[in-house]
Amino acid sequence: MNYQNDLFLRAARGEQVERPPVWLMRQAGRILPQYRALRANFPDFKAFVKTPKAAATATVQPVDELGVDAAIVFSDILVVPEAMGLDYEMIEAKGPKFPKVIENQGDIDQLLEGVAAATHLEYVWDAIAESKKLIDGRIPLIGFAGAPWTIFAYMVEGSGSKTFSVARRMLYQQPEAAHALLQKITTTTIAYLKGQIAAGADLLQIFDSWAGELTPEQYRIFAIPYLQQIADALPEVPKTIFAKGAWFALEDLGELPYQVVGLDWNIPPAFARERTGSHQVLQGNFDPCNLYASPAEIRHNTHEMIRQFGGKHIVNLGHGVYPDTPLDGVRAFVDAVKTYHK
Ligand code: CP3
Repeated sequence: MNYQNDLFLRAARGEQVERPPVWLMRQAGRILPQYRALRANFPDFKAFVKTPKAAATATVQPVDELGVDAAIVFSDILVVPEAMGLDYEMIEAKGPKFPKVIENQGDIDQLLEGVAAATHLEYVWDAIAESKKLIDGRIPLIGFAGAPWTIFAYMVEGSGSKTFSVARRMLYQQPEAAHALLQKITTTTIAYLKGQIAAGADLLQIFDSWAGELTPEQYRIFAIPYLQQIADALPEVPKTIFAKGAWFALEDLGELPYQVVGLDWNIPPAFARERTGSHQVLQGNFDPCNLYASPAEIRHNTHEMIRQFGGKHIVNLGHGVYPDTPLDGVRAFVDAVKTYHK
């Protein structure tokens, strides 16, 4: 597929590019007034996400409004547990809540997995196909899923948490059951992502949002092998691993077949470069809070960050953009990248 602007895919493959590409995690959503207007037509977030035409419209809004170099399909990582049979609610201004949680092997045995689970996610595949129509060859589209550990954390904990101590406890008390659940999530995620590729996703990003909650040893045992399985099963497209807080796991991530490694803002670029593979491209890692600064300061700090990465770099934030971020700050960030000269 040829795109009018394929900077993002060329950079992800490790090619030399004229300037680094830029997109923002969570670029689709509440920062845009046009998203909030569209979303008001739906009773809740889940109803919105399950309407492919609406999701596709939200996917394309930041492309039209901000001129980013990649789109990311509008969905959520929690659609996977739901497809496996564990329902969740998205509580306005609070976050996700699972009325029932996974406590033991018996609960795990009842979950659907693989293709049988992923077929319930046809609406996301349809949203990808619809998004491709609306993007109309302008830029590539990113598909995504949560990493097995992060999905596990929600399924066992039942919501966000300051400590994730319920989920982490299971790794000590019931390690075999934990592995069984991680494997079911992995098998489902692979089937789901295969469908995303078939629908037109050009690159896949895996969000391991709670990676930083594990010890280095636990990350090696309960996260890395499943991330490896996912990457090995999907050779057709380039892949990004974003493991938030996992500065301690960069060497391990550097050995996995992910072309791009996403970084949060706690990690100095040189520190990541020393530890990841020489073939790998780094993505990140502007502090999302820096977008509340003045446009001049954003511009200066963005250019400084690009200099520090020194190539093989996709510009992004170190985590998702906060919903109340001023659009002028986001624009200053994107424009600073586009006007960057070496
Ligand atoms: O633009 C994009 O990046 C695509 C959309 C996207 C959403 N969620 C939409 C969303 C993506 C990529 C996600 C991923 C996601 N969801 C992650 C991984 C990234 C990260 O932030 O670490 C996680 C952990 C979740 C789980 C989740 N979904 C939480 C904790 C919440 C509530 C907190 C919040 O941000 O409100 C959500 C809800 C959610 N997902 C919203 C959006 C736009 C807000 C709900 C709404 O608009 O009504």
